[in-house]
Amino acid sequence: MADRGADLHTLSPFMLTITGVSKSYGDRVLFADAALQVNRGDRIGLVGPNGAGKSTLFGLILGEEPADEGRINRERDATIGFLPQESAPVGDETAVEIACAITKDFVGLMRKVKAWDAGHPVEASHPEELHDDVHERFHELNGYMVEAKAKQILAGLGFRPEHFDRPAKELSGGWVMRAHLARLLTQEPDLLMLDEPTNHLDLESLLWFQQYLKGYPGAILVISHDREFLNELVTGIVEIRQKKLVRFTGNYDQFVFQRDAADAQQLAQFKTQQKEIAHLQAFVDRFKAKASKASQAQSKMKQIERIDRIEAPVGDDKKVGFRFPQPIRSGQRVIWLQDLHFAYGQTSVYRGIELEVERGERIVLVGPNGAGKSTLLKLLADKLQPQRGTRGLGHNVSVGYYSQYRVEMLKPERTVLAEALDTEAKVTEQAVRTLLGSFLFSGDSVFKKVDVLSGGEKSRLALVKLLLSPPNLLLMDEPTTHLDMGSIDALVDALKQFEGTLVFISHDVHFIKALANKVLHVAGGVITPYLGDYQFYLHKTKADSARAALTAGGAGGKVAAKAPAKAAAKPAAAPAPAAGPSRNELQKQQKKLQQVVAGHEREIEQLEARKAALAKELEDPALWRDAARADRAQREFATVTSALRDRTAQWERDAEQLQRLQDQAPGQASK
Ligand SMILES: Nc1ncnc2c1ncn2[C@@H]1O[C@H](COP(=O)(O)OP(=O)(O)OP(=O)(O)O)[C@@H](O)[C@H]1O
Ligand SMILES: [Mg+2]
Repeated sequence: MADRGADLHTLSPFMLTITGVSKSYGDRVLFADAALQVNRGDRIGLVGPNGAGKSTLFGLILGEEPADEGRINRERDATIGFLPQESAPVGDETAVEIACAITKDFVGLMRKVKAWDAGHPVEASHPEELHDDVHERFHELNGYMVEAKAKQILAGLGFRPEHFDRPAKELSGGWVMRAHLARLLTQEPDLLMLDEPTNHLDLESLLWFQQYLKGYPGAILVISHDREFLNELVTGIVEIRQKKLVRFTGNYDQFVFQRDAADAQQLAQFKTQQKEIAHLQAFVDRFKAKASKASQAQSKMKQIERIDRIEAPVGDDKKVGFRFPQPIRSGQRVIWLQDLHFAYGQTSVYRGIELEVERGERIVLVGPNGAGKSTLLKLLADKLQPQRGTRGLGHNVSVGYYSQYRVEMLKPERTVLAEALDTEAKVTEQAVRTLLGSFLFSGDSVFKKVDVLSGGEKSRLALVKLLLSPPNLLLMDEPTTHLDMGSIDALVDALKQFEGTLVFISHDVHFIKALANKVLHVAGGVITPYLGDYQFYLHKTKADSARAALTAGGAGGKVAAKAPAKAAAKPAAAPAPAAGPSRNELQKQQKKLQQVVAGHEREIEQLEARKAALAKELEDPALWRDAARADRAQREFATVTSALRDRTAQWERDAEQLQRLQDQAPGQASK
């Protein structure tokens, strides 16, 4: 591409061209003569079942993995940013430093500049690095702006300001991934390559991230199994299919529609051609022995050989299609919590909750991020101990807990089979193999080492282990992470057959809709039950969108902004003017502060209204047809969100201060 004329180079829309690429691991062919072109401005979703080679394709593009054949050309000046599927180890940097690392030297510079700003410059180990040089370079990189942007992005991805400066080593893998994701968004490379970026995000961050990517200026190539995310974001889908890369225009639903239509058409053509071939073949068979017709038979034979064969379309991706061995039956009352109190250190999560789960219920926990859904599940699983209250288990109840950590417990050096056999259950190797087979570990693939498994393959193996000794109370935290759509559907099927009791957390609306027969809304330490399926919950809460409702804070079901909730909780939130003229300094201060606080509240109210209006506008598909308008709305949304956050922080500070003053001068305050 590049030698087509250097003058056109800067205008070239091509960023990445893949031609004739083949790649195998042993006997397993992942790609044969595959091709793809990515242009500037493309938003492509890369899809295919677990183990199809999506992550491998990223490795090939990045040059981390050699192709067996073919060429991969990257546009000379294009910058590429990459988020891997699984997290990399970290050093001593903080979350903010990871997010700021837009160049190799940036964090070093930032540390020096900060030290200088704080009045204690780092001892000049390199004397040539004078104050001015460091500052100049920092300014060149737009240092302060970078930091501000990085912080804004971190906040969008769910980091609280007090965690910005925590060493990444203290963070869990999911949070480290978020910090790296923040770095990529701060860097803003021309091509963003993301391998299942939504796996580690809670819903609130996911919605923010989705919105942010919509306004992203560069090209995006994203691997995801999340239909809704793809529908929202992409304008093209590339499917790994029969070892090729097949490109479709449109979002995920449009892709499914086109693929099904193309399959139907291909099937029709295939059948027509098969008929034609059969017809010719019959002629050949009939006349090949007859001397008088031999030459005609010969020519028909040639005709058959010349036909460009249409292949039969492959059916849907193989369904996992496994079946739970059913657990023993438990009593009717399965598990209950009474007057349960739980706090992490000083932070109280639950103060006296009551909960009872009955046999056969399939309960989904919904509610805002940080409301304590995972905590509740862990309390049920006895992984966390309450400070007060009781947890009771019914007759014959066995509890199984599934989370991402199950995957981390797999031993990398073991084979799939050895790992699956390592279970407490008394099962035969044959049974294990059958279950593995239904999870698409068939033939020799059961001898694969765990450490070469793809992300989804690891999750499936962990599920197999859980299902080999099925408990009758299954507690699952985000069980669909890493699973491809076929496996999610199969898991749905299996869980529908499951005769035990299920309590789960998921942000996959499709999965929830298919399974839940009861919804528990968890927010602010309060559990509100909805005795119906997810549709019923949506109806009851009059939610705007199925997904937004998952994170909704209030019983209203809307994504509530934080400030009002806090306003209600703080006694100092709505002070009325002080009665009578102020007599001392304390009262003056108090009055002034009251005005300030009231001012904050008015402003917060306005910002919230604006934010809600913008959110509504951004949800309107029509907006996205006008790129400039969409971009404007997007930017304003970011500005308003950030202003709202700042203002809320100020309000909190001032309201607290006011409270302190009022405590010092009781009786003078509002009432
Ligand atoms: N070094 C290796 N040696 C042998 N097999 C490998 C190696 N690396 C990957 N594989 C296999 O290649 C296949 C493709 O792996 P890849 O990670 O690209 O899948 P994927 O499409 O990203 O899947 P997922 O959706 O589960 O993330 C898998 O079956 C995997 O086990
Ligand atoms: Mg992968």
